[in-house]
Amino acid sequence: MTTTATAKLAPLLAYLDSLTTERADVQRLAEALDRLDGLSADDLREYAVFDDHDYRRNLVVEGPMYEVLLLCWKSGQRSPIHDHAHSVCGVKVLEGKLTEVRYRETPCGQVVAKDCREMQLGGICASVDHDIHEISNLEAEGEDLITMHIYSPPLREMAMYDPAKPGAMTYRPVNFEFHGGSGI
Ligand SMILES: [Fe+2]
Repeated sequence: MTTTATAKLAPLLAYLDSLTTERADVQRLAEALDRLDGLSADDLREYAVFDDHDYRRNLVVEGPMYEVLLLCWKSGQRSPIHDHAHSVCGVKVLEGKLTEVRYRETPCGQVVAKDCREMQLGGICASVDHDIHEISNLEAEGEDLITMHIYSPPLREMAMYDPAKPGAMTYRPVNFEFHGGSGI
């Protein structure tokens, strides 16, 4: 990680590193993300790796009670509809425009969209536990989206939903890690 990025992330990482046995507080996490005003996608460019076929999760740094990821989305790439298991999640848009659709469960066991919003550069959203949503880059071809995600504790398994089927499946996302040189 560049010294510039390290300096800009220092207040956030100081808070996250102070967590030993309990997870982050969602309000404090959102405030810490909001204060990272000077952080840009360029500061974390070494982690901004895209995949032509799916959105990509690039691990920046992790601790016992958190992980910081840089997610890279090409036009048209979407997350599954998912919950957040037992984690707190904070997201900040570092480049492009994010579209979030939030869902709720219905009596028949299927999920249905309850609202949709777009977030521009600097926008923040937070999710906890059983909050169900889908994040996507629905901008035109060539317009990339880069988002920073904090999960506390690290989120390696969660529920995934198909709107046409009742119940949930298990989703275990792949995190791409950087070894040697900068990063972890
Ligand atoms: Fe999420």
